[in-house]
Amino acid sequence: MKLKSHINQIIQDAFMKAGIAHEPTRVTESSKAEFGDFQFNGAMALSKVLGKNPREIAETLIKNLNFDTIIAKAEIAGPGFINLWLNPLWLASECEAAQHDVRLGVEKRMIPTKVVVDYSGPNMAKQMHVGHLRSSIIGDTLANLLDYLGDEVIRQNHIGDWGTQFGMLIAYLEETDKDSSVSLKDLEQFYKEAKARFDVDEAFASKAREYVVKIQSGDAHCLALWQQFITISLGHCEEVYDKLSVNLRREDVRAESFYNDALSSVVHDLDAQGLLQESDGAQCVFLDNDEIPIIVQKSDGGYLYATTDLAALRYRATALEAKRILYVVDARQAGHFKQVFALAKKAGFVSKEVSLEHVAFGTMMDKGGKPFKTRDGGTIKLIDLLDEAVTKAQDAVKDKSSYSKEELEALAKIIGIGAVKYADLSINRESDYVFNMDKMLSFEGNTSLYMQYAYARIQSIFRKYDGVIGGHIIIGDSLEHKLCVLLLGFEDVLNRAADDATPSQISTYLYDVATLFMRFYEQNPILKEGVVDEIKMSRLILADLSAKTIKQGLSLLGIDVVDAL
Ligand code: ARG
Repeated sequence: MKLKSHINQIIQDAFMKAGIAHEPTRVTESSKAEFGDFQFNGAMALSKVLGKNPREIAETLIKNLNFDTIIAKAEIAGPGFINLWLNPLWLASECEAAQHDVRLGVEKRMIPTKVVVDYSGPNMAKQMHVGHLRSSIIGDTLANLLDYLGDEVIRQNHIGDWGTQFGMLIAYLEETDKDSSVSLKDLEQFYKEAKARFDVDEAFASKAREYVVKIQSGDAHCLALWQQFITISLGHCEEVYDKLSVNLRREDVRAESFYNDALSSVVHDLDAQGLLQESDGAQCVFLDNDEIPIIVQKSDGGYLYATTDLAALRYRATALEAKRILYVVDARQAGHFKQVFALAKKAGFVSKEVSLEHVAFGTMMDKGGKPFKTRDGGTIKLIDLLDEAVTKAQDAVKDKSSYSKEELEALAKIIGIGAVKYADLSINRESDYVFNMDKMLSFEGNTSLYMQYAYARIQSIFRKYDGVIGGHIIIGDSLEHKLCVLLLGFEDVLNRAADDATPSQISTYLYDVATLFMRFYEQNPILKEGVVDEIKMSRLILADLSAKTIKQGLSLLGIDVVDAL
């Protein structure tokens, strides 16, 4: 149900009937109950254009407003605001329909867009660390969301598997070759050791450099070692995806190396268009107004991160035919994306109408406000962090539930991982945020546990009730009315979150639903003696729709619910 579109349409019809040949501004949710459910603020702006008093315009509009089904009442307030109240009968029947529908009334897009979501993108030289957490979680949510709304989603994991460090790693792998699965068990350690050798041992270093050239020129032996390294390394990442329930599979990997053969033609085509300039022996593009050039080829012939991204952009826009491409990458790469997007369009690698968006996110900080590091300054391994969250979750729920040990473990996984994901997804993605496990695992405030608790509480009502739900919603008070309006706004929220690529709009909404439901429930008991059947049914339907909305919303965020807490 596109609630706002319906109301906007009614306003638009009133414009037509009143003979006002202007595009109306959109309605907004009213900030207070006394201002109705929605507000139209367009009369003020129109007064300048039409040379009329805004209250007069508002009156004309109200006269032409269709009060048939959706709108129950309209009132002019202040200088010319129009406050709109929705018809409770209509709200009730639409909520009933949503409760019956597996998609909760959320329609799929009529015309799907082909969207590439580039996310996670870990570097194979090292273990995945917390820096990749945000990209994986935000990217996966956006991919889930767009898919749910009916877009054609192509997930792309642009892993860093190409570059000079691989020569070093392979040289070291060969040296310690006995059993690579053992030596690569701890990649971080392996990388450190290889780097230490590289820094002090000149013979080793030159061998490493030789290997770089060999890999890049396709030497079979070196490529086989490299492949082995990547496979093991990727396996480590997949363990993390598994724990996080991130939907990235092997097929979604389009590594940097995938574009290797396309790099020379990228440079060639830029050159053919007269876009290249040589600077200190390197091939560069100077875009208008940019002081820093984009270097596409180094003086030694090597290509760079930007060259690969240009090739990837071209591949995505042409071979994959994407019309929208999202890059879920750290905000610190904003400059890079601004440049490659501009160049890709200028060079015609990507046509003008394709939307290229850097979905930037901030840095994860520790409690002291510093970028997240271990005590000795190393990066924290993602897998350790997730395991810690699960252990802490077990503590948080052990007194709350009467579960067996196994059940408690399963529950802790859902809650612990959910808490980490939700904390990330519930803040404005561009802000830096403090990773605070205790706060994440709180039953209070905007946390996943609060939401899971609200869900479980509703399920417990149904366990006690244990009958069929039928009948109708009867809106009895203003809280019930508000809850219905909020629940019908689900699709609007999902669309906005998808358009702006901001998962936090979903979590803010779910928090509102859970909070409002709890207030509603306190005021309107359901199973208490004395509640007549008709009212009981009505409240049960609303409870069910609230629970289903929370469940569906959390599922888009990649978070599970539990039936009891
Ligand atoms: N591997 C990169 C990093 O860790 C992220 C890749 C993002 N995707 C892209 N197409 N550049 O910083």
